Amino acid sequence: MEKKQLNIGLIGLGVVGSSVAKILKNNQELIAARAGCNIIVKSGVVRDISKARGDFDFPITARVEDVLEDKEIDIVVELAGGVEVAFEIAKKALFASKPLVTANKAMLAYHRYELEQIAGNLPIGFEASVAGGIPIIKALRDGLGANHILSIYGIINGTCNYILTRMKNEGVEYQKVLQKAQELGYAESDPSFDVEGFDCVHKLLILASIAYGINAKPEDVLTQGITEITQEDIAFAKEFGYHLKLLGIAKKSGEEVELRVHPTFLPKEAMIGKVDGVMNAISVVGDSVGETLYYGAGAGGDATASAVISDIIEIARTKSSPMLGFKNPFEKDLKLKPIAQISSAYYLRILVLDKSGVLAKIATILGEEDISIETFLQRPSKVQNHSILLLTTHICIESKIKIALKKIEDLEVTKAKPVMIRIEKP
Ligand SMILES: NC(=O)c1ccc[n+]([C@@H]2O[C@H](COP(=O)([O-])OP(=O)(O)OC[C@H]3O[C@@H](n4cnc5c(N)ncnc54)[C@H](OP(=O)(O)O)[C@@H]3O)[C@@H](O)[C@H]2O)c1
Repeated sequence: MEKKQLNIGLIGLGVVGSSVAKILKNNQELIAARAGCNIIVKSGVVRDISKARGDFDFPITARVEDVLEDKEIDIVVELAGGVEVAFEIAKKALFASKPLVTANKAMLAYHRYELEQIAGNLPIGFEASVAGGIPIIKALRDGLGANHILSIYGIINGTCNYILTRMKNEGVEYQKVLQKAQELGYAESDPSFDVEGFDCVHKLLILASIAYGINAKPEDVLTQGITEITQEDIAFAKEFGYHLKLLGIAKKSGEEVELRVHPTFLPKEAMIGKVDGVMNAISVVGDSVGETLYYGAGAGGDATASAVISDIIEIARTKSSPMLGFKNPFEKDLKLKPIAQISSAYYLRILVLDKSGVLAKIATILGEEDISIETFLQRPSKVQNHSILLLTTHICIESKIKIALKKIEDLEVTKAKPVMIRIEKP
């Protein structure tokens, strides 16, 4: 694109869109030097034109068509959010032969392969869709291009990391920390999308497409959030030398790929486990490079805009590279590993009647499924005449632990559904 000026159509002027406009203006000369041309916002689109908003030095409309049909607009930047509405905008931009930049992980979780197909040689930038300001897409797609990716472990939801960190540092239960996070704006008023793990799943799917060329859907990913974590789990982690994190995990084993999102115990020495607060971090292990670690702000207007603008600069510099990084289909068609077949070590928290013989019953059930216990602790419970059993197992198959958990839950002495957290040793 040998032009003196590139015109941007900015669809969405919310948290991210307004930061993009601001940074393009404030850092105009630097960005022009890097891109090789001036980058100007020609027009912006919002849903509600009557809303009071900051000063923008470009026209604002509520008609998406004003951008999509404007022949002078060179790049469409979709920062509106949502899934199907955004997908329609993205398709129309590509059909109008306009390169696309988006931060929309939810849309990409469902439609990334359709978009790649429609785009053909038109570039699509989506650096901001995973881990906000961390350039993980470019690292994985370009920087690690020579590697078979053995594993990805990601703290890719700042809200969950913030909640788990405060639970650890202050000894406060989940509900109280969530309330505080909502007051401070770190959690939405309806936090379920974050705390149930769905946001993390969307980002993991994008990373897995680049690492493995695998086309999985959100429903295919084992998804467990942080809502059941209690102070007993946090205390156990402290006592036995673990960090407790919500992780997005993608792992290659043979011709299969595991994709899962769940709270995970990590050994104290794992670097990613030390990442606290709202920050994000991703550990990627390649067969040639070994472990690489990426750390930074996973959300926020300016950090996310930094990633959006990096895509705009890349498009200004070069014509195109395939959206998900594979010029040809991957030589071996990797399959998604069924969750029942994954193997892991497990931590179990079981509320039981405090009487003799209970532990023997649980040990027998585990033994019947070939599951051996590694560590065991008993804690008093607030529930009268009950105690909490905390135990970890050696590595076993997920289907067996599921059977054992069901049998334990069905015991008369078991008070509530046992809680299970997977332990990963990267
Ligand atoms: N916020 C972050 O830290 C962050 C981080 C990474 C990725 N992202 C992603 O970035 C995208 C934007 O997020 P955001 O936080 O900036 O959202 P936001 O603050 O809610 O802003 C959305 C903007 O899009 C406009 N809009 C919504 N629907 C529209 C439609 N149908 N047509 C035209 N305009 C429409 C809204 O208009 P009004 O102003 O009139 O309501 C608003 O200006 C999302 O996909 C999000 O997942 C956000």
